[in-house]
Amino acid sequence: MNTISKVFVLMLITLWPNQILAQNLIITACDKTLYKELCRKTLQNDPESRAATSLEVLAKVALKNATSTATQIHDQVKKLLKSASKPIKAALRDCNEVYQDALEQLDDTNTSFITKNYDISTYVSAAMDDADTCDQSIEEMTPGKSPIGSQGTTFSQLCSIVLALAKQVNGKGR
Ligand SMILES: *[C@@H]1O[C@H](CO)[C@@H](O)[C@H](O)[C@H]1NC(C)=O
Ligand SMILES: *[C@@H]1O[C@H](CO)[C@@H](O)[C@H](O)[C@H]1NC(C)=O
Repeated sequence: MNTISKVFVLMLITLWPNQILAQNLIITACDKTLYKELCRKTLQNDPESRAATSLEVLAKVALKNATSTATQIHDQVKKLLKSASKPIKAALRDCNEVYQDALEQLDDTNTSFITKNYDISTYVSAAMDDADTCDQSIEEMTPGKSPIGSQGTTFSQLCSIVLALAKQVNGKGR
């Protein structure tokens, strides 16, 4: 190795060890999820997970993103409800209710994470069912023309990622 390469390698080792570790952690953890690309994009986007050295932090950041996605959908549903007319209005009422529940399930997940309990599949599965119920309700009332588009699908995928990451935290200690 010439001197310049040595200096460069030394710089890499001293300046960016955490970032390199975090990158590897994200890639390895996301490879064990069903939605690898969404998982990587979400975790690489957030400064907290970009510097993470533990799976716990990755699970927490994924939950944060899932929660803000659910909040956005819920807010949009409430706004749409104000001006909605008949067929879609009933569906949006269902969505309003189920996303309220989904947010409570995610809140319970958050409380569990804070107490280091990663057995959260009951909560997160219920939140995924909620998203599904909303999508089905809309599809019945106005087939093919959802006012919330594919956001419910993205939300479900984020939930699936939270589940897969929490499972890895659990598996680590056993
Ligand atoms: C959630 O992750 C997506 C990338 O997948 C990003 O565009 C979005 O800003 C994130 N939202 C929050 C609140 O972090
Ligand atoms: C989790 O709870 C903490 C403490 O109440 C709060 O600061 C944080 O915003 C919550 N995170 C999510 C994703 O709800």
